[in-house]
Amino acid sequence: MTDKLDPRAAGARRFKDKICVITGAGQGIGRATARRLGQEGGKIVIADRIDETATSTLKELHEHDVEATKVIVDLSTYKGAKDLMNEARSIFGRIDVLINNVGGTIWMKPFHLYTEEEVEMELERSLMPTLWGCRAVLPIMIEQQAGSIVNLGSQSVRGLYRLPYASSKGGILALGKVLAMEYGKYGIRINTMSPGGTDISDRITDRSFVRPGVIAEDPENADTFRKEMIEDITNQQAIKRRGTPEEQAAAIAFLASEDASFITGDNINCSGGQS
Ligand SMILES: NC(=O)c1ccc[n+]([C@@H]2O[C@H](COP(=O)([O-])OP(=O)(O)OC[C@H]3O[C@@H](n4cnc5c(N)ncnc54)[C@H](O)[C@@H]3O)[C@@H](O)[C@H]2O)c1
Repeated sequence: MTDKLDPRAAGARRFKDKICVITGAGQGIGRATARRLGQEGGKIVIADRIDETATSTLKELHEHDVEATKVIVDLSTYKGAKDLMNEARSIFGRIDVLINNVGGTIWMKPFHLYTEEEVEMELERSLMPTLWGCRAVLPIMIEQQAGSIVNLGSQSVRGLYRLPYASSKGGILALGKVLAMEYGKYGIRINTMSPGGTDISDRITDRSFVRPGVIAEDPENADTFRKEMIEDITNQQAIKRRGTPEEQAAAIAFLASEDASFITGDNINCSGGQS
């Protein structure tokens, strides 16, 4: 864990004894964020619907003496989000930080090729878990008169071939702004961190896994769409490479921490200058 984080952690303990709930923490950016917040002293609640990967994150944190627990839950429903927050609170007594990280495009293709059901699946994957996560945690944070929420956006809001996913992430930008205005008076901050394309070397659960029994298939010409999309992204970048989960986790940690105590309703792009 330590060697993966090197200079960025710099010995900071910004989350000392803070209770941090991180969704989709079984792999990828969510897992890197769990490591980062844990390394900075946070007590971590790993939320994911896949037990195997959540358990592997938990094991890694425990090996590094980070206090952590896992909650296996489907966050595409309000019930799932409520169960997660209730369980986190019953174990640790409060929730200081919520990172709504679940999301990820299922398909890449022009909008007219999406079926009605596929559009709904994309919103279920990339908008609803954040919407429900915020809805479920706000009453707890209002009671505490404190809390910090970071939602994951994306550069797709200005890119090709992922319109339903982009609409979800555009919705997340909007809900972050509105919630910040509504809940600042309760000491709650809500921000968005929008990654650019990021290599996920520990991905076990593929994006094509929609739900048990439903695996998405690539459209015809998938390689052409993907190539065009990647060229479009690279052309927009000042730093022409993909990001790492640790770079994304560093930006998330900043927004979640008290270092960002006067920042709310805002968005940070971590994308090599793409925006
Ligand atoms: N990786 C990238 O290139 C990239 C770029 C821009 C934005 N993002 C955003 O960053 C976030 C993380 O991306 P990633 O690539 O690390 O994701 P990923 O697909 O590798 O991992 C997502 C995790 O969320 C879990 N998950 C999915 N649906 C769930 C549900 N309904 N309930 C509970 N858990 C669920 C999965 O099991 C998985 O562990 C996403 O919001 C994504 O949109 C990623």
